[in-house]
Amino acid sequence: MRSEIIKILLENRNEFVSGEYISEKLGITRSAVSKHIKNIKNQGYEIESITRKGHKIVGCPDLLSGGVIKHDLNTRFIGKEVIHFDTIGSTNDYAKKVALESSDGTIIVSEEQTSGRGRRGKEWHSIKGDGIWVSIILKPDIYPHNAPFITQIAGASIVKALRNLKIDASIKWPNDIIVNNKKVSGILTELGAEIDRINYIVLGMGMNVKTMDFPGDIQNIATSIFKEGYNVKRIDILKNILEEFEKLYLDYIQKNDKSNCIKICKESSAILGKNIYIINADKKRKVKCIDLNEEGNLVIINEDNDIEELISGEVSIRGEHNYV
Ligand code: BTN
Repeated sequence: MRSEIIKILLENRNEFVSGEYISEKLGITRSAVSKHIKNIKNQGYEIESITRKGHKIVGCPDLLSGGVIKHDLNTRFIGKEVIHFDTIGSTNDYAKKVALESSDGTIIVSEEQTSGRGRRGKEWHSIKGDGIWVSIILKPDIYPHNAPFITQIAGASIVKALRNLKIDASIKWPNDIIVNNKKVSGILTELGAEIDRINYIVLGMGMNVKTMDFPGDIQNIATSIFKEGYNVKRIDILKNILEEFEKLYLDYIQKNDKSNCIKICKESSAILGKNIYIINADKKRKVKCIDLNEEGNLVIINEDNDIEELISGEVSIRGEHNYV
């Protein structure tokens, strides 16, 4: 209810909205409206309240709350439901718990994660207010073996969103987003499925936005948007990602069209044309990346000068000299 009230106030941000209007619109009593407004103010929203005139929003805290996300969000179904936490273990874990009863496109977002998870069982540092820690619940009508491509769609939408905001980002195929040769964002996609049917996908995205200090083990490979000199609001990045994601996702699940996604991945690739190391189990081989084919597989030339196609998820990649 609070997010609905914030949405109404934001839609009318230049004027006072009466308690009566809000109560009629949302089907709640005037005293319930007053209580919610009080709580919203306690969350850090600046709201001017004048007797007989109503309420006017004059400032929003830097929170990724439902009302702020939904305001002017240009999507059909992604982010129409938002579950926002101040703190939680992991948004992916919570999303998996509620996935079956949630609607397609519901997003779970938290200001902080206390047990944020990265790929391959790694920890994902998720300090309060420092980044975007979000999971999207998806229910596509596709076969489970086609699900991994959704990770590439997420990568493409993140890089496109950052570029829309004039941030020079690239993709380290298939799912790390890079700014100035360091990782700024990563994706963890999890599947709830039967052998031939997807029940749900939880698409987890983490982005370091304001973090200035990283722990020793990732200091040389991790960075943040602020650390690289870009002053962009978390909310603008998140809304841009959701909008870009929905377009590419609908192309894929409705028309099986991967072309726009692959175009973005190719144009913004951090590895095409470069020598890289691919790591598979304990084996490390130096290869050259030559293309991303229309299926979204990475085409490389191996040590014996043979051409190989790599499928996402099979290998891990390192740059010849650095992280990329
Ligand atoms: C990686 O690059 O290793 C993937 C990182 C994914 C982190 C995000 S943050 C939101 C969501 N919840 C989690 O616990 N992990 C993902």
